Order: sequence, then C-alpha cells, then structure tokens
Amino acid sequence: MHQTVLLREAVDALVTHPGGFYVDGTFGRGGHSRSLLERLDAGGRVLGVDKDPAAREVAEQLARTESRFCFFHGSFAELPGELRRLGVDAVDGILLDLGVSSPQLDDSERGFSFLQDGPLDMRMDTTRGETAAQWLSHAGVDEIARVLKEYGEERFSRRIAAAIVAAGSEQAITSTGRLAQVVSAANPKWEKHKHPATRAFQAIRIQVNRELDDLKELLAAALDMLRVGGRLVVISFHSLEDRMVKRYMRDMARGEQFPMGVPVRDSALNRRMRLVGKAVRASDDEVAGNVRSRSAIMRVAEKIS
Ligand SMILES: C[S@@+](CC[C@H](N)C(=O)[O-])C[C@H]1O[C@@H](n2cnc3c(N)ncnc32)[C@H](O)[C@@H]1O
Repeated sequence: MHQTVLLREAVDALVTHPGGFYVDGTFGRGGHSRSLLERLDAGGRVLGVDKDPAAREVAEQLARTESRFCFFHGSFAELPGELRRLGVDAVDGILLDLGVSSPQLDDSERGFSFLQDGPLDMRMDTTRGETAAQWLSHAGVDEIARVLKEYGEERFSRRIAAAIVAAGSEQAITSTGRLAQVVSAANPKWEKHKHPATRAFQAIRIQVNRELDDLKELLAAALDMLRVGGRLVVISFHSLEDRMVKRYMRDMARGEQFPMGVPVRDSALNRRMRLVGKAVRASDDEVAGNVRSRSAIMRVAEKIS
C-alpha cells in the first residue's frame, strides 16, 4: 500500500476552481487523484500521469468508473505533447509528488530495494529504457562516481564506483543483493541509522529514471501549460529536487533581474508567478504514521501572467 503524503495540504493548495482541469503528474496509486476528484464538481477533470505500468493498471480501473478521470502512461516531461493531443490549451493546476512509491520499493522484482534481493532493474517504466544492471555494465568509474556524488551526495563516490566496476568485470552485477554487498564492502564509513548502500541506490535510481532531467523539462514547460491563476504544487523528497523547484519558483516570482540601483517599474520585472505560502512539511502526526513523509517538502506557486 502507498500512503499518500501531504494529501489534504496538496489538494487544498492545488484547487482554485472546482470545475477546472488538473494534472496529477505522479499518479502512483491515485491517492492525490481520488482526493482531487472528490474536491472537484461535475465539470472538473483530472489527467493522471505515471511512468509505471502498475500505476497504469490502477489508473485504468479508476477511469472505467470515473468519467472525469483519464490517464497517460509516460513521463510528466511529455505532458505538453499529451495536452496538445487531448486538445487542452491550459490547465488549472499541476501536482507532482516526486520519487518512488511504496509498492515500487516493496516489490523485490522491481529492483529498487537494497533490503531484498531481486533483479537489478530500478526502472519506473519497465517498458522502456536501460535497467540499472545494463547501465552499470557499460558505465565507467568516472561516470558512476559522478552519479554517486551528484545524485547520492556520497562522500566515497570514487572508491565505491571503482569497487562496482571491479566487481562487474569479474561477474556482471545483476542483482540488488550483490550491488548492496559490493557497495557496503567498499563504504568505509557507515552512517548511523542508514544502510551503507542507501546513497548509492538512490543515486543509481535517479540516473536510470532521468529523474532530474524530467523535472527540469516539466519546470521549463510549466508556465506555458498553466492558465493565469493556475497552480504548480511540487512535493520533493530529495534536496536536489527541492533546490530545483525552489530556484525555479523564486526566479519566476522575482521576474527579470536588473543591476542594483537601476530604477525599474514593477511591471517591467515581468513577474510570472507568485509564491503561495511557505514551504510545507508533514506534521509530526503524519511523520509518526508514515516515516516516508519525514523528508517531504511541498512548494506552491501560482501563475500571475
Ligand atoms: C511518490 S509516488 C506518487 C504517489 C501518489 N501521489 C499517490 O497518492 O499514490 C511517485 C510516482 O510518480 C511516478 N513518477 C516518478 N517520476 C515520474 C515521471 N517523470 N513521470 C511520470 N511518473 C513519474 C512513479 O512511478 C511513482 O508511481
């Protein structure tokens, strides 16, 4: 089961118009979509999007009983094309609840977990792209070290990358168990309360799924997809994602930058969004009932021009 994080907070922040068209860019098991549909009136619509074929099954079931809901299997980075195909020129809100879902982590066959042995896959979309095992089979030490450092903030990135390549040259690394073992053995300093392969698994997952590239593409296209008054709500679980979202929203809200001292009318700044409230974190109660929500951070911005 996936326990939806910041459910009420996200839907409250997103909906400005009960008859509007909304996008749930990370459908998962549909927690946010269902709550969104409850909030909308008979004229409202929700487009769910997810890369995962298992999410697609759940979404297609929902679409059979809920005529206000439809689904697109693909990346939210492909949203502009999908909206064009549907003949929708602007939407009232876009919600992203980033990262992996609990069912993805819990199913050892998906290869996301260092706690259970399974095939080293890690793809959210199992119908396309390279698996983690395939990527590791050709990536060199430099590339793996960069990924571990950038996406996992792993201090021992080079040492661990070298160990992965060395182990892979003896025998291809095709299981999560073996990867976890190679990484753990190469990691000289185990952090408290953290499996020694946590950072490496997170980094490789982000690489395999192009998670930051997809987010960058979505942010670049968001203004064009939203109507004026429409909102972008993003829940991140990783500091790199949150930094991207925060910078993007801040830049859109600040408008153009002029040199210090140059007198400029506010209208010349061309501000495109306003920030709605401050960053929101899960309450203590929510964290007590769902540890995954501990690192969640939600940001909201509204298109103003
Ligand atoms: C944290 S879960 C979302 C859970 C959902 N809000 C719910 O209540 O069930 C993230 C989901 O987003 C999907 N996902 C992540 N990145 C994606 C992307 N770029 N495009 C489409 N789906 C993506 C994952 O496959 C996963 O199902």
